[in-house]
Amino acid sequence: MGFVSKFTVISFSFLIFFWPSQVHAESQGHLPGIQSKTIEELIEMTEPKGGEAREKASLLQRGKKTYRQFCVHCHGERGQGKGRTSPYLYPLPRDVTLGIFKLRSTPGNALPRDEDLYQTLRDGVPGTAMPAWGDVLNELTLRALVEFIKTFSNRFQLESPDFIMPIGLEPAFDRLSVKRGKILYQELRCGRCHGEEGGREGSLEQDLNDAWGNPSKVYDLRRTELYKGGATSDEVFQTLVTGMDGTPMNAYDYVSGDELWHLVHYLQSNYDQQIPDRVKMSETIISLHVSEDLVASPEADIWKKAPKTQVKLRALQSVSSGFSRLSVQSLHNDQKIAFRLQWSDSSPNRAEPGVSRFLDGVALQFAPGPAIHSTYYGMGEQNKSVNIWHWRADSNQKIVGKDIIPQPKALDPFREQAVEELNASGFGTLTVQSLEDQQVEGKGVWQDGRWAVVFVRELDTGSSFDARFVKVRKKLMAVALWDGTLKEKNANKRVSFWQELKFK
Ligand code: HEC
Ligand code: HEC
Repeated sequence: MGFVSKFTVISFSFLIFFWPSQVHAESQGHLPGIQSKTIEELIEMTEPKGGEAREKASLLQRGKKTYRQFCVHCHGERGQGKGRTSPYLYPLPRDVTLGIFKLRSTPGNALPRDEDLYQTLRDGVPGTAMPAWGDVLNELTLRALVEFIKTFSNRFQLESPDFIMPIGLEPAFDRLSVKRGKILYQELRCGRCHGEEGGREGSLEQDLNDAWGNPSKVYDLRRTELYKGGATSDEVFQTLVTGMDGTPMNAYDYVSGDELWHLVHYLQSNYDQQIPDRVKMSETIISLHVSEDLVASPEADIWKKAPKTQVKLRALQSVSSGFSRLSVQSLHNDQKIAFRLQWSDSSPNRAEPGVSRFLDGVALQFAPGPAIHSTYYGMGEQNKSVNIWHWRADSNQKIVGKDIIPQPKALDPFREQAVEELNASGFGTLTVQSLEDQQVEGKGVWQDGRWAVVFVRELDTGSSFDARFVKVRKKLMAVALWDGTLKEKNANKRVSFWQELKFK
């Protein structure tokens, strides 16, 4: 408790320290230049003394421990973005050693403020694999992580973050403002990179690289869920005025405030949907006890009883998939456990002659332990392997209301089930269990633009490779999804973080 309140005092004094220049900027109505400070001055001002030094050290220790548990798989031991999962991701995890950050409230090329980094960690980076850690880690831990990641780049010792770029009052959103925004969009040649309607996706024509040496890509600006900096008025204004450092998206700080608002309004006039509500990255799924028999049928009446939980998924590689969600239900009796997953998919991709390359699929993954750091949610870790149940839309899956020629052949002539049981201890280590160890039954039905898939298994199989559901009150599970239409396959998929499965 004492530690927490002391901590608040430190960060508060830090804020005051940077406050005057911001107040100055706002009261003067123009932007002050970047003040240079000598290194000695900085050390003088920031070096903690005595008790403060001990607190800082313990904060860094906490940050380091959490980084090893949750960040190292993607950002790597030294923060260079070279974790074991990196080869499977686009965009790549950030190399934080250069001290360049896309999401900031500070001017182009300036360091982010602690608060900016805190917000990034809390909310994640939409449209990428970077999760919203605020859903599972507390504020102190996030602040500790902020301190720790700053140690990867000496830029944080040499410079101090600058003032906050002021965001003025938003003028009315009306036809005139949108029209002016459209003209500005043309005059400033935003379409060069984003396309005339803002709908371009993928690599830039010029084949531009970002500051980290990776191809830079643009996203469809009409899709609110892909805005990394957020799609509300203030958030888009901030992105335009601060730019996204390290990418070809420069800061438009030379454009007047009014003009920036017109641009914001023009972009908003093209939004294809409302800004989506936030679904937490980790939810509780209740498994309800029933006395009835459990069979692999997605259409069984018994599912009406089971509570539904929405689970949020993030695309690992696809620039266009963004977020998606699916609903999960669970039931168990004294022998078996069953799950039903449902998600919208406008065109089913089932194995058919000649078109079996990209199939729709869904997988459940179970952790060995009950704590979210017990193993990495991205397919486990060495010696902490996960158990995976993978369903694919083979030709035996039922499709209602679409003219698809029935094809009696299963994917694998030796298997009767559409579900395969596997184990993994990290990306690239998938192992299929032997035929006699395949004990999960599964069945999918596609109807009215939706897949419903059921998995059923015994509560306990006796095998140490299989998830056990006896004598446990909770269990961690994660979900992965493949959409054949989007050409998703193998590591190109959407995944959730750990969800807590509770038995009732
Ligand atoms: C599954 C992989 C993954 C994990 C785990 C992960 N990140 Fe990231 N992180 C990313 C990706 C991908 C990006 C880059 C997004 C982009 O460039 O648009 C990113 C970006 C960042 C950024 C830069 C944001 C900016 O403004 O440019 C920071 C800081 C960061 N992550 C910190 C963390 C911390 C701290 C953790 C652990 C609590 C963590 N990440 C865990 C994938 C991950
Ligand atoms: C030289 C190419 C280029 C030009 C010109 C350009 N952009 Fe961008 N813009 C990018 C790239 C690349 C990204 C994606 C950066 C990333 O996510 O790594 C981006 C991202 C964005 C985003 C998304 C922000 C987010 O939160 O994800 C918006 C909005 C945007 N640009 C608006 C504009 C507007 C408006 C203009 C004109 C005033 C413009 N851009 C001009 C390259 C450009």
